[in-house]
Amino acid sequence: MRYYYAEHQAAYRRLGREGMTQWNDLFGESWTFDDFPNRVFLESVLDRLPASGEVLEYGCGTGPAACFLAARGFRVDAIDLIPEAITLARRFAQERGVTVNFSVQDVCAMPVGSKQYDVILDSYCLQSIVTDPDRAAVLAAVRDRLKPNGHYVLSTAMYDSDRVYEDDFRYDATTGICYERSTEPADDAVQLDNTWYLPHRRHLRPKALRAELEANGLQVLSQQGELRGDVICTPTRRG
Ligand SMILES: C[S@@+](CC[C@H](N)C(=O)[O-])C[C@H]1O[C@@H](n2cnc3c(N)ncnc32)[C@H](O)[C@@H]1O
Repeated sequence: MRYYYAEHQAAYRRLGREGMTQWNDLFGESWTFDDFPNRVFLESVLDRLPASGEVLEYGCGTGPAACFLAARGFRVDAIDLIPEAITLARRFAQERGVTVNFSVQDVCAMPVGSKQYDVILDSYCLQSIVTDPDRAAVLAAVRDRLKPNGHYVLSTAMYDSDRVYEDDFRYDATTGICYERSTEPADDAVQLDNTWYLPHRRHLRPKALRAELEANGLQVLSQQGELRGDVICTPTRRG
């Protein structure tokens, strides 16, 4: 099982059991399904986007951002790795009377497909996809599925000097990788000082995130937010 699966599966099982509606409820934060963390950023970019374009959201979770865009006239395909998340997402969309094409899919292993999108959205998924090859796979999928004038709208967690990494976690400032202690040498585990760790998060500084996006064929149009993790990109013109 890949490092990004178990934590997310456990999270959505708990969400379902405890009647929560979206990821941030797990941390007792005061967001609601309709007032989700990157809503203000999304609202601020709407005037850059075509009024009723084709959207792909990956890592959609229970679907708050996908529903927000569908309710505004976008045709939305939304994918998540975890079946329990997609089951909840379908229910919440139906309750709101909005149509979103939800499916279970790993963004790191998307089949090559011809569908192209006006907008590809990431609402806090990318920081959970940690290793260089996995992040390159995600960004290649984004670049290949964006129309030439399309927009990649990304909200991701960043390095924060105020964040405290608890005892079971280890932050590598060179790479921005946060590792979590693992009880066994599972798939993807690495050994650091005789202890097994799994990749857990990638918390980059703003310049490193920008460099990564540009190295993967995405031109950064704007990078904003307190920690500069709200980004809009377009594909770099080829040739
Ligand atoms: C922090 S949660 C955010 C969920 C949702 N976008 C929201 O704002 O509530 C990150 C999401 O990314 C999903 N995810 C992680 N790795 C993924 C992958 N490789 N492919 C698709 N989804 C993934 C997780 O299952 C989880 O739903």
